[in-house]
Amino acid sequence: MRYLITGATGQLGRALCARLGNEVVWSGGSAELDVTDPEAVARVVRGARPDIVVNASAWNDVEGAETLGAAAFAVNALGPLHLARAASAVAALTVHVSTDFVFDGAQQAPYDEHDCPRPLSVYGASKLAGEHLVAASGCPYLIVRTSALFGRGGSRAKGGSFPDRILARAAAGSPGEPLQVVSDQVCSPTYAPDLADAIVKLVAKGARGLFHVTNQGSCTWYAFAQETVRVARVDVPVIEARARDLGGKARRPGHAILSKERYEATGLPPLRPWAEALAEYLGTGRS
Ligand SMILES: NC(=O)c1ccc[n+]([C@@H]2O[C@H](COP(=O)([O-])OP(=O)(O)OC[C@H]3O[C@@H](n4cnc5c(N)ncnc54)[C@H](OP(=O)(O)O)[C@@H]3O)[C@@H](O)[C@H]2O)c1
Repeated sequence: MRYLITGATGQLGRALCARLGNEVVWSGGSAELDVTDPEAVARVVRGARPDIVVNASAWNDVEGAETLGAAAFAVNALGPLHLARAASAVAALTVHVSTDFVFDGAQQAPYDEHDCPRPLSVYGASKLAGEHLVAASGCPYLIVRTSALFGRGGSRAKGGSFPDRILARAAAGSPGEPLQVVSDQVCSPTYAPDLADAIVKLVAKGARGLFHVTNQGSCTWYAFAQETVRVARVDVPVIEARARDLGGKARRPGHAILSKERYEATGLPPLRPWAEALAEYLGTGRS
């Protein structure tokens, strides 16, 4: 297969390029291709002649999106539309990646692909708009929603991966100074290489439409941070905080757990538990 990967300088993009090796015929970050520029997108896609266009690019600055909504929508909504149209013009499959932040997190049961989204933030709304525009473009598509992604090199927009940011905060603090981490938001930490592998397997199976894919299990960000310092053997206390006490404009879902039933119904094995993936990341992949 000939893959074109946008957002290749990000956590998922890097993992996809590593997973696919010489199946990648074109890859780049925003400097190589700005997905908000429809002519550039059409030119690059036409030139690369891919079978599969994977959009791993995103405006991932959730806080920044609250004040720079137009820019977030340009990347997260119009970018996927331009890519879908360009992919369709060369008869390629569009693979787009979205987020659990399309949900409000009020539901205690895991969300499946039929549950009604209700984003709380501009970022979540822009990602939902991207999903709708890809679907409405009429192109063949696969959309994969995921959660709390962490991977090698981290997300530039977020200042690193979550585990790396926790370890950096621990290293920067005074000895014994506790780290405050949100304990009223639950997520499913997902390791970028595991997600990349799942995406490639879904494509190989001919899957189309919308799928939820995360590592197994869920936890609060507080528990994610606790596990990070425990595995990294960093002796720093982690204490619980409420999201509203830590400030920030963007509202985030309290409990947006994604059901993987549709993914598993394809016959693909579940992704490993998130803590196992975190141990591998901290043992081998931290940069
Ligand atoms: N990170 C999370 O916690 C999380 C959670 C759920 C879902 N997701 C979704 O998962 C996907 C991958 O996220 P990630 O964490 O791997 O992202 P990331 O590490 O933040 O990387 C974002 C990528 O998008 C590129 N980009 C930004 N603006 C662009 C533009 N205008 N044109 C082209 N490329 C642009 C960046 O390029 P440069 O760095 O070169 O500018 C970078 O390669 C995204 O769809 C995201 O919404 C992420």
